[in-house]
Amino acid sequence: MSLPARLAVVALALSLPLSAGRARAADTVVKIGAALSLTGPAAVYGASQKAGVQAALDEVNKSGHLKGVKLAVVFEDDGSTKEQGIAVFQRFINKDKVAAIIGPTLSNTATAADPLAHAAKVPVVAVSNTAPKGITDIGDYIWRVSLTEGQVIPGALKRLQNKLHFKKAAVLYGNDDAFTQAGFAVMKAALEASGTAIAGTQTFAKPDRDYNAQLTALKALAPDILLVSALADNAAGIVTQARQLGWNVPIVGGNGFNSPALIKNAGPAAEGVYVGTAWNKVSAEAANQAFLKLMRERNVDPDQFCAQAYTGVLVIAEAIKQSGNKSGRDDIRAGFAKVKALATPLGRFSFLPNRDGDHEPALQWVKDGKFQIVP
Ligand code: ALA
Repeated sequence: MSLPARLAVVALALSLPLSAGRARAADTVVKIGAALSLTGPAAVYGASQKAGVQAALDEVNKSGHLKGVKLAVVFEDDGSTKEQGIAVFQRFINKDKVAAIIGPTLSNTATAADPLAHAAKVPVVAVSNTAPKGITDIGDYIWRVSLTEGQVIPGALKRLQNKLHFKKAAVLYGNDDAFTQAGFAVMKAALEASGTAIAGTQTFAKPDRDYNAQLTALKALAPDILLVSALADNAAGIVTQARQLGWNVPIVGGNGFNSPALIKNAGPAAEGVYVGTAWNKVSAEAANQAFLKLMRERNVDPDQFCAQAYTGVLVIAEAIKQSGNKSGRDDIRAGFAKVKALATPLGRFSFLPNRDGDHEPALQWVKDGKFQIVP
């Protein structure tokens, strides 16, 4: 019997109202701070993450899974910047006195904010940071749910090479952001390892809106494939302008492409774009199906960022459970190490010894105006 069904039976037997979501006087309320990009270039991810965090928190509280513990969340906008991320972390650590922090959205922000949490011994769960370096290696209070570019891109490229037989690649990347720079490094290494020649490399910066010079230069090199390391905001413009140049080369994006905002803003130009993803949206696993049903009920069309944020809360709840329902900052940190093969929408989730996440990635592409898993 599923957990909600079991709860219903218990409630019926005891003639209790199903109001388990409300904290009772005896419950310990565990405050989680969620630092998400609700404004700025990463705002498309933040909105989706917020929906995932709230849904998971409501589910955990409703289920009564944690004995004597209720979760509460404080949402703050990290503004997609280092400065605001630092300010939010300071507030979480010193004023709200949260037990754990989820976020911030961007790796770039995390490189600046996470050291504060580590120094204050407040556990952090990164749910969207994908730069391989500079996150969990800050220290042992920093844990990560989101698979890194290094865990996703090489496998995705290998699958695509078998399919598209490319021999010559071009790369375009943002050179003012920790994630887009790291994504480029991973792409370069993966191309070199696969024996693919890199015909040319071009860069842009987050405020840029015109990529024609870079795209024209790369097109002239006639590569078989174009790799792009960009946040969704820039990605839509890049894809659109490439197609406007009449350039129909296959495009492969890094994790920044994993937002429906790419499809919304690029329209038909997004068709056929490939991206490795941490979430297999069509997975038949019970935890994924339950997540999809729940989000449907909440009128949210979830994306990878939503599924990862949802998983971040499940992981914190599991850490509390593994610590015998103790919920201090160090209890939660100690509990993370005991999270093993947890059923989540991302699949069975565990942490690696370096505190990065471990589960199966997938490959998707844009087909008929939607992300679809490449079978
Ligand atoms: N995956 C992106 C980052 O790490 C959002 O910044």
